[in-house]
Amino acid sequence: MKPLSSVFNFEREKRAIEFLMRSGEWFVVSGLRRTGKTTLVRSIAESLDLIPIYVNMWEAPIENLSLDVYFEMLKNAVASVTERRGIRRVLNMIEKISFLGVTVEMKRKARISMTEALKTLCRRNRVVLILDEVQELLKYPEAFRYLAALHDILAPRMSVVFLGSIASLKRVLERHESFPLYGRIGEEIVLKPFDERTSIKMLEAGFDECGVSVSREIIEDAALRLGGFPGWLTHFGRTYVLMRLRGEDTTLDHVIGKMEEEAAAMIYGEVARALYGRRRISSYLRILRYAAEMGEISVSEAARIIGKVPSTAITYLKYLLERGLMKKVDDRYKIADPVIRRVALRPDFEREVKMRAL
Ligand SMILES: Nc1ncnc2c1ncn2[C@@H]1O[C@H](COP(=O)(O)OP(=O)(O)OP(=O)(O)O)[C@@H](O)[C@H]1O
Ligand SMILES: [Mg+2]
Repeated sequence: MKPLSSVFNFEREKRAIEFLMRSGEWFVVSGLRRTGKTTLVRSIAESLDLIPIYVNMWEAPIENLSLDVYFEMLKNAVASVTERRGIRRVLNMIEKISFLGVTVEMKRKARISMTEALKTLCRRNRVVLILDEVQELLKYPEAFRYLAALHDILAPRMSVVFLGSIASLKRVLERHESFPLYGRIGEEIVLKPFDERTSIKMLEAGFDECGVSVSREIIEDAALRLGGFPGWLTHFGRTYVLMRLRGEDTTLDHVIGKMEEEAAAMIYGEVARALYGRRRISSYLRILRYAAEMGEISVSEAARIIGKVPSTAITYLKYLLERGLMKKVDDRYKIADPVIRRVALRPDFEREVKMRAL
C-alpha cells in the first residue's frame, strides 16, 4: 500500500476523509474505476491512529457469491487485524463464529458474535471499517439491515467507509427511503479524474522520481490520451520506464499499445462483472461498441441498434451510466474512459466479455 505522502493530489479530499474517519462518520467514497478510491482511503486510514479493517467484495470469486461468503470475508478481515495486533480476546470471539451450520439460528448467532467482537475492538480504539466494491452487496438487503444495526450500536466508535466504483454509490444506496441505511450515511466524496494539468504534473513527478527524463511532448500527449485516471497514469508511467530500461521503442503509440494490451484482459473482466446476471448482454455490448466507434450514442440510436423502443434503450443506457461505463454529456452518452473505449474497439471485445460473463 502507498504511504499517504506518495498519494498524489486530492489534498482537499484527504483532509475531508481524515476528518470523517476521526469523527466516526459513516460515509461514501465513489468514483469511476481507477480514480484512486482504494489507494486514497486505505492510505489515509493507515496513517491515522485508528484500527482499519479492509474488506473488498471483489475478492470473492464471481461464480461463488453469497451473503455467507461476504460475511466470511468480514470475519477473516477482523481476525487478521486482531491477530496482527495481538488482541487475543477479540480473536477468540471471532474464531468462535462458525459457519458449519447454515440455519437461520446459526447465522443470527454468528452476527451477534461479530457485533460483540467489533464492540470489544472499539473499546481499544476507533475502528474504521472500509467496505470496497459495495455495489456487489446491493443484491443482499439483509447485509444492509445488519450494517444498519451495527450503525446504531457502534457509531461513532466505528466509522464505516463505503467504496464503490459506480457513478454515485450514495444515490444508489439511498434510492429507497425504506433502505436500512437511509439517513445513516452522511457525506459522499466523489473522486473525479484529474484535469490535464494535474495529469501532466503527476506524470512528471513519477518520471522524476524514477530519474527518467521524458520529453514534454510525450507527457502532454499521454495526459490527453489517458483521460486523467490516476490508475492509467501510473500504469503508463511504469510501462514507459520499463520499456526504456529494456531499450525498447518508447514512442507514445508503442507504449500506450503495450499498456492497452495488458489492460484489455482486465477491462473484459470488469465489463463482464458489471453485466453479470443481466439479460441480453449482447445489447449492452452493442451499445458500448457503437459508442466506442462513433464517440457517442443517443437514445434513438441505441434503440435502433438493439431493436427496442426508446424507453427500453434508456434503461440500458442508465444501467451503463450507473456502473460507470458511460457518462452523459447533454443528451448523448459516451464511454467514460478512453482506454475502455479503445478496448471496446477490438474485434474480439464482445466474445471476450461474454466468455467471462456467462
Ligand atoms: N493519487 C494517486 N497518486 C498516486 N498513485 C495513485 C493515486 N491514485 C491511484 N494511484 C494508483 O493507481 C492505481 C489504481 O488506483 P486504485 O486502485 O486506488 O483506484 P480505484 O479507484 O480504487 O479503482 P478500482 O475502482 O479499480 O478499485 C493504483 O495502482 C494506485 O497505486
Ligand atoms: Mg478500488
